[in-house]
Amino acid sequence: ASVAFNEPHRPQFHFTPPTGWMNDPNGMVYHNGEYHLFYQHNPDSTVWGPMHWGHAVSKDMVRWEHLPIALYPDSLGMIFSGSAVVDTKNTSGLGTAENPPLIAIFTYHDAEAEKAGRNDYQTQGIAYSLNNGRTWTKYRNNPVLKNPGIRDFRDPKVMWYEKGQEWIMTLAVKDHISFYASKNLLDWKLRSDFGADVGAHGGVWECPDLIKMPVKGTNEEKWVLIVNINPGAPNGGSGTQYFVGDFNGSKFILDPDFKANLSAKPSIAATVNGQEGIWLDYGRDQYAGITWANVPKEDGRHLFIGWMSNWDYANVVPTEKWRSAMTVARSLELVNTPAGLRVASKPVQELQNIYHKTHVLEAQTVSGAIDISEQLSVKSSSYDLSLEVEPDASQKSFAVELSNSRNQQVLIGYDADRGQYYINRKKAGEHSFSDKFSGIQYAPRFSKDKLFSLRLVVDVASVELFADEGRTVMTSIFFPDEEFTKIRLIADKGQLKLSSGKLTELKSIYAS
Ligand code: FRU
Repeated sequence: ASVAFNEPHRPQFHFTPPTGWMNDPNGMVYHNGEYHLFYQHNPDSTVWGPMHWGHAVSKDMVRWEHLPIALYPDSLGMIFSGSAVVDTKNTSGLGTAENPPLIAIFTYHDAEAEKAGRNDYQTQGIAYSLNNGRTWTKYRNNPVLKNPGIRDFRDPKVMWYEKGQEWIMTLAVKDHISFYASKNLLDWKLRSDFGADVGAHGGVWECPDLIKMPVKGTNEEKWVLIVNINPGAPNGGSGTQYFVGDFNGSKFILDPDFKANLSAKPSIAATVNGQEGIWLDYGRDQYAGITWANVPKEDGRHLFIGWMSNWDYANVVPTEKWRSAMTVARSLELVNTPAGLRVASKPVQELQNIYHKTHVLEAQTVSGAIDISEQLSVKSSSYDLSLEVEPDASQKSFAVELSNSRNQQVLIGYDADRGQYYINRKKAGEHSFSDKFSGIQYAPRFSKDKLFSLRLVVDVASVELFADEGRTVMTSIFFPDEEFTKIRLIADKGQLKLSSGKLTELKSIYAS
């Protein structure tokens, strides 16, 4: 109970469990003025183990109230990832018309059955709450969806499909997605499969999501299918790819242009390490991200959060009382780019609720480097930094360097020779815990603008880069021996025009 939230490497405005292990975000649902966030949780250890659903609620997706564990393992197995919905019409009959139930749909993982060599050890179960998610009751006839004999069969994301007046479950099945349909959340029928022959397949498909999105600036709507995969991400380990297309209530039909984009060689999609796939976040440390259910129509946003780690080293990162954080909550948009349709992400505007002081940089020409922290007299390791830069024709590479007095640094920049953004954490501090941690991560640029707009959300042990209005996103964690409070902008050889820049210090969500 006595967690101070000020241990080394503890993020100050990103969600972390007070103690114990955390992985995927689960069951995100907006209900009665609260954003619920559940998460894969092992309360008894800082490594992955028997999975529970930890729980927190927030009014703004920034400041969270920790609640007791919502779901415990039972005789059917551990509680793996899944989603939650508001059963507004009480289709399940588990609530009443006056008090419709909140329903969590999750995967049961039966470790005993797995050990015994069976293939059907993952099934889907549900639980319901009649008191704003404060307590949960497991449905007595679980599982609601049995396993047909496939070893990876998990992470149900359920949505209400208005046109067909039924629930659609998007399920990750080994190397593809299966869509199931139900009128009551209790009886499910297979509708179709998608994806065994497209996209990245360097690992198992996990944690999917299916959302309908307007194409920004048009009257068109498209469906976006988010598919997490581990391993097989462009920079190694786990990552989040997506597909743009149409969904007709039964089938997901890949957009022909998007498909061409995926398989063209050399493809725009495949510029990172020869991997096929288009990725929602190219950094090493955003995984299992999906969106909130039941966001009011008047709001209309697609609100996303991911786990800020990578299965390559998640269990061994150097934190003591807890392990890992979530990304900032993000708002997703589908935008037209010179490369085709892309999902762009931005931190939710509610981040303003913890804005402290804003410092404005003077427009200037950078030759060599400038010290941003010194110019602004800021000494902070939790902030939101926006820069607009225009490299000259002779030399286009540039970087933002975050560093400390121990000669440790992380570089977030643009490599003109490759035409890619990158994050270099080779000298970012502790890395001996895993030989997969150190190195440089790359991401394609989906813009031809002369002006580069970079937004960096930094919080003690992580940076989230939103470049070109969020068209390219990279999330990366790091563990310096002393916090990075020095910020420089480096214009390698040529000159860099800094046309605007501002840094807003962010308040700790633990400050009273
Ligand atoms: C993704 C994942 C899910 C699974 C959960 C188990 O990180 O492997 O597929 O449900 O984690 O904790």
